[in-house]
Amino acid sequence: MSYPYQIKSFDEYKSEYQKSVADPAGFWSGIAEHFSWRKKWAEVSEWNFTEPDIKWFKGGKLNITENCLDRHLEYNGNKPAIIWEPNDPEEHHRVLTYKKLHEKVCQFAHVLKNNGVKKGDRVCIYMGMIPELAISVLACARIGAIHSVVFGGFSAQSIADRLYDAQAEFIVTCDGAYRGAKDIPLKSVIDDALIGNRTVKKVIVCTRTRTPVSMLKGRDVWWEEEMKQVEEKGLTFIEAEEMDAEDPLFILYTSGSTGKPKGVVHTCAGYMIYANYSFINVFQYKPGQIHFCTADIGWITGHSYIVYGPLSAGATTVLFEGVPTWPDAGRFWDIVDKYKVNILYTAPTAIRSLMGFGLDPLQGKDLSSLNVLGTVGEPINEEAWHWYDEHVGKKKCPIVDTWWQTETGGVLISNLAGITPAKPSWATLPLPGVQPVLVDEKGDEVTEATDGVISGNLCIKAPWPGILRTTYGDHERCRTNYFATYPGLYFTGDGALKDADGFYRITGRVDDVLNVSGHRIGTAEVENAINMHAGVVESAVVGYPHDIKGQGIYAYVIYQGMHGGDTELTRKDILQTVTRIIGPIAKPDKIQFVSGLPKTRSGKIMRRILRKIAEGELSNLGDTSTLLDPAVVDEIKNGKL
Ligand code: WT7
Repeated sequence: MSYPYQIKSFDEYKSEYQKSVADPAGFWSGIAEHFSWRKKWAEVSEWNFTEPDIKWFKGGKLNITENCLDRHLEYNGNKPAIIWEPNDPEEHHRVLTYKKLHEKVCQFAHVLKNNGVKKGDRVCIYMGMIPELAISVLACARIGAIHSVVFGGFSAQSIADRLYDAQAEFIVTCDGAYRGAKDIPLKSVIDDALIGNRTVKKVIVCTRTRTPVSMLKGRDVWWEEEMKQVEEKGLTFIEAEEMDAEDPLFILYTSGSTGKPKGVVHTCAGYMIYANYSFINVFQYKPGQIHFCTADIGWITGHSYIVYGPLSAGATTVLFEGVPTWPDAGRFWDIVDKYKVNILYTAPTAIRSLMGFGLDPLQGKDLSSLNVLGTVGEPINEEAWHWYDEHVGKKKCPIVDTWWQTETGGVLISNLAGITPAKPSWATLPLPGVQPVLVDEKGDEVTEATDGVISGNLCIKAPWPGILRTTYGDHERCRTNYFATYPGLYFTGDGALKDADGFYRITGRVDDVLNVSGHRIGTAEVENAINMHAGVVESAVVGYPHDIKGQGIYAYVIYQGMHGGDTELTRKDILQTVTRIIGPIAKPDKIQFVSGLPKTRSGKIMRRILRKIAEGELSNLGDTSTLLDPAVVDEIKNGKL
């Protein structure tokens, strides 16, 4: 495979960018031509940001799996598609060639059909990072079912909410998952999530950890048995469902500033083309290279840059089951060495955590295969950037700082590896087709610079093919969340700076969304969970700077009647409740018990003050004169953790 639309120089970037803005239809149709379509589109794009109504490649018919699998079979069938590295380095790794992956996907697509899954049905996937996860995702896409992958760190309650919201009728899961030294009992979590559930008809369970599981007759079936039936019939192929360009491909839940996560919907053609285009250009992938994205497929990064981007490009993608620090902090470097990885894509939080182990874990690891490094998920601080550059890239690998979101489907702002300039801790320039704008509170474009730098709320003026189309089951929510704050613009929720060269630096969320270890968590969601705990009267959650996680979660809690009179035990109780309601990823790092919260006379919590205190900026709290009870601030300051 060659990539005629891979940008090869800074000048070419500039001219492609110009073309993409002057003639988006011409630009994107020139790229879309290189994919396999059952039927070409009639209209490249049709959109308004008012309703919003966004369509790309209208009238086009395709199946994304024909682009990710079938089209590679003739010349690259024996090329590795997925290299799977197990949690335990002693266990044998697995390689799935394009031919093998195609066969497994077709077979599992039969299994889904045999169990009643039809086009448009929602299938919830709750699995560890094993090849069967990628196979499940692709098998859904093969038959036109809408997958909704839920990350293994979410609780039964979170899964139950998502199952209900998506009205999912099917689940694919595992007995358990290995993550570092831990075993996570996935099926048992699913069983809890299904108590009282009335929509789910079938649960397909894949064996991984041999954890004992309960199997409900008529509802629960084994992956292996179902596959055996298909194999015994000699079936190795299934015709791909012909999908409309705008048919939904998947739902992925993500947090916002309200209490309830929303189901971001991506559709078949636009998402595919954007995941592929951004993969090929940002990472400058060359045929034959090994790409290793360390994210979990439960997040958008895994969807776009482990599965759909690389496979649509005929690339070899590494799927790693474990964690960076187990059995030791050299695990990433062992994997790079073992498979001669060329592109490593990870999160600043992982880099910072590995920095803490010093240079020993890097000793004796051959990292000379690396060509390109990438980061994603949160702003990268300069110290981490330089460590990555010096000790991992040995100063010869460009680092791409890729800014994007679940809603954007793929990278929107990033340097292109080795092609456009890098600037530490700056995401730099927009990809072709992406038109950022910085606006003030009123929505007016900010043009005035201070020391050559403009600062504002980051919006995008026009759609790119990978933009979300709706939030599942609630289009109005999509409109109010993303398109109503600044009419006519897509609002990202991030603040940003822009320098005289037009480079962007993302400064972080400007809404009540936290970014903890690159995971997005809504403060309202955490507050709701804490408030469910018996004894909690009220709570307020804010973020604070955390050396490794980027942001930590700080909770102020008004509480009555400590468990056994024990504050520490009560604190742990609250963590238990949050783990049950959301999952361990949302556990507050600090809980401060308070007798009141700073509120305005109209009863609004003044988060600005709580944020300042959590950040340790006690002397500079700003105006507190509008507070109902200013004394409460002193109490909170004195009790700061
Ligand atoms: C939020 C989106 C997109 C994949 C991972 C997270 C923050 C993401 C960067 C970056 C600074 C970043 C933003 C964004 N973010 N990448 N390179 N520099 N901030 O996806 O969970 O949808 O979170 O992550 O705040 O809005 P997500």
